[in-house]
Amino acid sequence: MTNVADLIAGMSLPVIAAPMFTVSNPEMALATCAQGMMGTFPAHTTRSAEMLDEWLTTMADGLNRLRAEGVDPVAPFGVNLVVHGTNQRMAGDLELCIRHKVPVILTSKGAPGEVFDAVHEYGGLVFHDIASARHAEKALEAGADGLIAVCGGAGGHCGSINPFALVNEVRQMTDRAIILAGAITTGRDVLSAQVMGADLVYMGTRFINTEESGAADGYRQMIIEANATDIFFTAAMDGAPANLLAPSLLRAGVDLDELRRQTPGAIIAVDERKKRWKDVWSAGHGVGSINDVLSVQDLCDRLKAEYRAARDDLRHFQAAE
Ligand SMILES: Cc1cc2nc3c(=O)[nH]c(=O)nc-3n(C[C@H](O)[C@H](O)[C@H](O)COP(=O)(O)O)c2cc1C
Repeated sequence: MTNVADLIAGMSLPVIAAPMFTVSNPEMALATCAQGMMGTFPAHTTRSAEMLDEWLTTMADGLNRLRAEGVDPVAPFGVNLVVHGTNQRMAGDLELCIRHKVPVILTSKGAPGEVFDAVHEYGGLVFHDIASARHAEKALEAGADGLIAVCGGAGGHCGSINPFALVNEVRQMTDRAIILAGAITTGRDVLSAQVMGADLVYMGTRFINTEESGAADGYRQMIIEANATDIFFTAAMDGAPANLLAPSLLRAGVDLDELRRQTPGAIIAVDERKKRWKDVWSAGHGVGSINDVLSVQDLCDRLKAEYRAARDDLRHFQAAE
């Protein structure tokens, strides 16, 4: 992968199916790449380095098979690495990504220049999660090729800044790629993000409701039934601000009023970390426009059709002059 412009030119739509702990997997990622959009998964969803090695081999074999079958375009894939000192698997996982020459590395937490350099050395690209201009500054300094602007309303660990505000602030700082994240669910949203000045979008919650995702049926049904007001913003889960499905918190016996009073970092009901993420489900504000579970192929076909329709609609807007 030489640069971001080539990456986008080789995609059917500038959409990245965002990495989601325990939800994204090679099946979902490959199905997404087969539609010309980027499939991803977090390295930390795998239980061990051996399992990550297997997943990376599955991706490489799967992409080669798609190309041999004449599928065009096949988008490259990305792997999310938590590049924080507390991630004990970081060095080993990075080494595997280097060995497999993973085309795009999606980093979160911290912005270590040496990790970015190592990825650049084999020709990979690095997109780094940011939630503020200060984070953006550090990531640019460290050499990130793109900034994932995680805005208010995003699923998982999220930001709190309005997307217009954050994209405008970051765009003043750099011409490098901006990947907009937060409540993006339709092809029309993708075009809107481009008009705002973003180059690509991250779409997480919408991909939970695909047949290939690792989400439980009850999780997908809760998303179908939810609206934006059912999303509860709290840092009490593990100390980092996150958006969670309120019905799943209630079902786990969590008192939402008490949770509102918790200091950041206070830990809720269920003890063990992975189990907490298993029982309490996360989603972004975009849930209100998700009313079904589709195959990745059908979802991507729909996104493309919505995008084309939105672009056609633009012709009706009044010219400024
Ligand atoms: C269930 C869930 C798990 C997530 N896990 C991760 C993760 O492991 N690593 C990461 O970088 N982002 C993670 N995210 C955040 C997504 O990558 C992305 O930023 C977010 O989903 C975009 O907002 P949206 O869900 O409104 O589309 C997660 C999001 C969700 C909903």
